[in-house]
Amino acid sequence: MKILIAYYSKTGSTEKVAEMIKQEFEEKGHKIEITKIAPINKLKAYQYKKNGKDLKLKKSVANVKKFDLILVGTPVWNFCPTPMVLAYLRNLINAKNKKFALFATCTALPGTTIQRMSSILLTKGGKVIASNTIRSIFPLDRKKLETAKEFAKQLSAKS
Ligand SMILES: Cc1cc2nc3c(=O)[nH]c(=O)nc-3n(C[C@H](O)[C@H](O)[C@H](O)COP(=O)(O)O)c2cc1C
Repeated sequence: MKILIAYYSKTGSTEKVAEMIKQEFEEKGHKIEITKIAPINKLKAYQYKKNGKDLKLKKSVANVKKFDLILVGTPVWNFCPTPMVLAYLRNLINAKNKKFALFATCTALPGTTIQRMSSILLTKGGKVIASNTIRSIFPLDRKKLETAKEFAKQLSAKS
């Protein structure tokens, strides 16, 4: 399969999860592209508009036409996806009938993060086939990262 992994990460946890997922898919022989989501203007977290509307992003892979599976990852901010990831999802092109899997990292309370991401994808005709949220108050350890690997393994098996 051709797989895209798109993620935003401020302090590195979501990035570690993205890398772990990439590694597992590569071991299974899939072709992976990874794209970082980032705002053009870096602000303090509380200064972004929560819904990500009007947020300008740096260039990333937004046309998903050639991919069989697209993974999108976000940290949880105030029980929601980050504004960057909401903006990214709204910018996606050719998401219709594509398969998506979502992942999130947080300390404890993911709130409506996965639901909010899913509902944007639904309006674009995308299909969310799986999601995974990793909770940790400490930096992600080996055991937590293994759950990301397991998530990718299960996706590999069912896609
Ligand atoms: C502005 C802000 C808001 C946050 N809100 C939540 C929250 O609502 N629930 C939660 O469990 N963690 C929350 N966190 C913790 C992050 O989701 C968590 O540390 C995440 O793993 C960070 O990912 P990153 O290292 O990829 O940036 C918040 C962190 C920040 C900076």
